[in-house]
Amino acid sequence: MKRSLVFATGNQHKLEEVQGLLGKDFALSCLKDVGITQDIPETAFTLQENALQKAQYVFQHCKCACFADDTGLEIDALNGEPGVFSARYAGPQKDSAANMQLVLEKLKGIEQRTARFRTVIAYIDADGNEFLFEGKVEGKIIDTPIGVKGFGYDPIFVPEGFDETFAELPMDVKNSMSHRGRAIQKLLEFLVNS
Ligand code: IMP
Repeated sequence: MKRSLVFATGNQHKLEEVQGLLGKDFALSCLKDVGITQDIPETAFTLQENALQKAQYVFQHCKCACFADDTGLEIDALNGEPGVFSARYAGPQKDSAANMQLVLEKLKGIEQRTARFRTVIAYIDADGNEFLFEGKVEGKIIDTPIGVKGFGYDPIFVPEGFDETFAELPMDVKNSMSHRGRAIQKLLEFLVNS
């Protein structure tokens, strides 16, 4: 029998990506499947706290096994920015092109371009026990956006060991080594062993 899990997302693309990574032994529901149509607050200052805040909100609502993720791009030369503010770096409109432009402006003339994507997943089991899983991928920020695949900061991020951006690499290649892919892999290992 499939195990049911609620994933705290309203993003269909992310739901399908994560369903693919978890495999067919799991049946994922999204927020609207459990009647949550309002935005869940994300008011914390760390990825861990934000992920937990979202998962706790869902658990209070459905009292069932659920998980939430939070991701940030951490750029070393910007002291870890945009980090937890990645979605809203250039303002509340959550505009990916504007966010990338702001990053590129701030890095103008700076040679040190190292960065990483980090994802934290907070999982709450049906009894209310909380667990955290983290995945990250190291890489660098290039000067000009390249590529049309993916989303967010993908066109300016080149993962370590590659010459292409996340927006140029095939989706399955990105998923196999991405921050979210690695965090989901850890969640999956935990779920199959518990
Ligand atoms: P979220 O926590 O998954 O909503 O991610 C927060 C923000 O980080 C997003 O709005 C994107 O700007 C960025 N982000 C998250 N994951 C990725 C990714 O895989 N590629 C590029 N940008 C990402």
